[in-house]
Order: sequence, then structure tokens, then C-alpha cells
Amino acid sequence: MELTDVPAVWLRDNCPCSLCRDPRNGQKLFQITDLPARPAVASTRELPDGSGTEVVWAPDGHRSVFPHGWPGQDTGAGDGRTEADKETWTAADLDGRIPEASWPAYLADHAVRERILTAVARLGFALLREVPCRPGQVLDVAGAFGFVRETNYGELFDVRVEEDPNNLAFTGSRITPHTDNPYRDPVPTLQLLHCLANSAEGGDSGLVDGFRAAALLRTENPEAFEVLTRTPVPFRFADARTSLRADRPLIDVDARGRIREIRFNNRSIGTLRLPAGELTAFYAAYRAFGELLQRPGLQLDFRLDPGDCLIFDNTRLLHARTAFAENGARHLQGAYADLDGLFSTLAVLRRQRPLDDLAALFAGPGTEQYLGEEVTQAQHMLRTAALAEADGAPAALIAAGLLHDVGHFHGPVSGEELMAGTDNRHSHTGADLLSRWFGPAVTEPVRLHVAAKRYLCAVEPEYFQQLSAASVHTLNVQGGPMSRAEADAFEANPHARDAVALRRWDDRAKDPATVAPGFEHWRPLLTGLLRTEVI
Ligand code: OGA
Ligand code: ZN
Ligand code: ZN
Repeated sequence: MELTDVPAVWLRDNCPCSLCRDPRNGQKLFQITDLPARPAVASTRELPDGSGTEVVWAPDGHRSVFPHGWPGQDTGAGDGRTEADKETWTAADLDGRIPEASWPAYLADHAVRERILTAVARLGFALLREVPCRPGQVLDVAGAFGFVRETNYGELFDVRVEEDPNNLAFTGSRITPHTDNPYRDPVPTLQLLHCLANSAEGGDSGLVDGFRAAALLRTENPEAFEVLTRTPVPFRFADARTSLRADRPLIDVDARGRIREIRFNNRSIGTLRLPAGELTAFYAAYRAFGELLQRPGLQLDFRLDPGDCLIFDNTRLLHARTAFAENGARHLQGAYADLDGLFSTLAVLRRQRPLDDLAALFAGPGTEQYLGEEVTQAQHMLRTAALAEADGAPAALIAAGLLHDVGHFHGPVSGEELMAGTDNRHSHTGADLLSRWFGPAVTEPVRLHVAAKRYLCAVEPEYFQQLSAASVHTLNVQGGPMSRAEADAFEANPHARDAVALRRWDDRAKDPATVAPGFEHWRPLLTGLLRTEVI
């Protein structure tokens, strides 16, 4: 999509400038009513420094700069919660591929964390094994990716046979497929069940993908589907201390009609009070959905062993257990949590991916010799960062130093070609690559670090004297010293001072005697600088 293809008012509403969004947090600083009623694009141009496209607005003369590649494609993706973003399943689909990991691996490896949380998001569940069989441990599991939702059952609940059960769960009875706590609004969107003991006869577990079942109902019996999406059902729970009620449909769809939430619990459905015709239609539809949920092949059967902890989406999957012998030992601890926390943890984990890509660049192509110098490319950049840090540079400028030459291994023209006489424009290709992940305080000094050399040669005769032989060679390929007019234009760039500072560390970082920490040392600093994708 091009900037000119989108409605002007939409573009203006997304202006990233510091008058429109607080640069510290990306939050909008204006109301929709503060914008001109009919904003229009007066002019656009590519900025000469390559940082993006400038839009000047009528009637108020406001100026926006949109980064390259923006607005990108409209992927049509939903919010992650509807059927549009799920992989629905039957038991056979998951044969041999139940998403699982050991708890120690989950804690140790962020790729495992990403895989498990992605499974909960896409398939609706994951199974952690080797979770210590310690009472209360389920809270630590929930806390590893989100926030525990405390309820009238406490922070956690024990699922075992009780003397005077306030819920059928606390007996040895069979429990048919259901979602938990439908009588709560908002409903807990995630549930955890941690098995501490399961030696009783019976007590096997089952899961049914409610989105798959609802989609089948929509195909096979569209009328029933429709009735279930628009009939509010009163769900209730009451005991001596508690009285809860929520009136929600069994199948909830989003504003676009996509399946988004299932509530289904035969134990806590209350008395519907509706006109007779609606009651008849509801019961027919309720029964049809109930039958579908029991259809052979939909339910995934398995057994929880001590140390297993099941994490599942309580707005999508129905869970069940077979009856068990009340004289045997069966003890689960459960807790509720929410999908928003899990999705946030997953998004932050995914945000780290570019750092893995950069680490791979340092470990791979970065080990090549740096253009005619006595250090490798990676050593050169690591030294630049170390010198910047030693001089007290701010984090963004240290990062710029660390990454300033990535364009040598990323652009269309390699460093060797630069040495052979073709300018590979590595400062621009590097800055463009980095702009996917970092803001201008990182990318612009990188973009200007070649210009800074041409500038320093123009204004400081001593500077030219101390350049290495390779650097003099590339200077000529890159355009030689700046003219007076070019130097004036350079000085006017707000990032010129940082670029000059970077350039001086860059030149010193060709000395093989400088010692510097490796890439991983900088991961926390880089993490703090990653874009948070508000536009
Ligand atoms: C519950 C429940 C499942 C089990 O407590 O709501 O569904 O395996 N328990 O006991
Ligand atoms: Zn349950
Ligand atoms: Zn360099």
C-alpha cells in the first residue's frame, strides 16, 4: 500500500511526529476533534537523508514524516482471539503432535517459551511436563506468562474429593465437556490444571475444540448457530458466600461475525426466561450443539500424570474428565489467568527475534575480515560500542556504534565491492534494515556515519591525516571530502553531532589492541531500544 492510497484523515490520525505522539511512549496527544475536519495532503516528498516520506498538510501546514515501508500491507488479521487467527482441530489432527515441553526447558529457553505460548494462542492449549509436584506451583506457572485471576475459589483451587462439595468438580463424578465459570463476566480466559496425584481408577482428561464444533454447527445447521449467537443464557453459581450471574450467548461472535467465545456448562446453566417461540428454538439449537460436542473424533483424550500442567483457553476449549474412584488418590490444583497477559508475553518474546537475527549476523558473516583492517567486522563493531560506552554515550548511540556497519553484510552490494570501487551505500542499507526495529536515535547516526567521514575530512585537515589506508580508499569511492555547501547541509541534520561522535569511535575501533565484550553483552541495552510498534 502507498501513502497516496489511504484516506487522508486516516493518514493524519497516524502521524508519528512528536506533536502528535509522545516520543517517550508513543501515546497519542490529540483528540479526533482536534484535527482539521477535512485534512488534505498538500505535498509529499522523499527526504534527502533517506529517513522517510514527508507529508505537508492543508489547511494547517502540519508536517508528518512516515518511515519507509509504512503503512505496509493490510493483513486483515483479527485481534488474535477469533477463529480467524486459530488453527482448529479434531483429535486426529493432533495425533502425535500434542504441544508440550518440560518445565525446565520452558524456563531455560525462550524458543520453547515462544512455541508453547504460540500453541495456546493457535491451538488453544499446551501441556507442560516435569512441573514440580509442589502445592501452589500452579501459581508460579501462571505467573511465568501472565497474571493469576483470583476468584471466590481463591487464588488457586483444589480439584479433589471433598466432604461437602460446593461444585460437582469436587466429587468423583464424570464431568462432561464444559468451559469453566461461565457465570462470571468477564469470564477467566485461561485456565491451568496442575496434576499432583492421579493414581485413582478413572479420571482421564479430555479436550474439545469449541471453535471447531461451532464452525461445524454453522455449516450443518446455520439456524441453530444463529440462535446460539443471539440468545443470552443466564449462567449462575451460588453458595453460602457467593452469588454470581452472567447472561451471555453460548457462541459469541465478534463485530464481523467471527466466532470469538464459547460458554458451555450444563452444570451452571440457569432458567431462561424468554417468549415460548424463542425457548423452543433455543432448546433445539442447544441440543444440536450439545450433540455435536459429543461427536466421536472431536474430543482429544489423554491422561494427566503427576507433574503435568495443562494450560488452555477457557473461551475456546471445553474440558472434561471421566469418573474416578473416590477411594483413590486424585488431586489437581487449578488457577485462572487471562489471555491478554499471555499474548503480551508472547509479543514481547517475538520482539526479541530481530536480536537473534543480529546475533546470527555477528556470529556468521561478521567473522569475516573487516575491509583491509586487522580486525573482523564483528570485532570492529563490538569495539566501536565499547568505546562509545567508555565515553558515556547514551544507549541509542552505543547501539548505533554496535550496529553501524551491518549494511556491509546486508545490502545488495558487499563490502568487497566497496573495496573494488563500487559504493555499497552500506550506511543507508544498514539504517534501512535497522529502522524495522529501532528508532531514529539509532538508525540516523548509522545512516550518517559515512557522511560524517566526508564531513570531517572537509572541516578538520588533521582528521584526514589519521585515516587508515583502506578508509582513504573508501572515502574516494564514497564521494571524497564534502564541499562547503555539503558540510553546511550536514551540520543542519539533527543527528549530525551523534554521527560525528560515532565516526570517531569507528575510526579508533580498527585497533586490534582494543578489548570489547561480545554481542550478548548488549542484548539488554538493545531490548530497551526496540520499537514497540505503535504505528
Ligand atoms: C473443573 C474440572 C477437571 C478434572 O474443576 O472444573 O473440569 O480433570 N476439573 O478434574
Ligand atoms: Zn472445569
Ligand atoms: Zn565502521
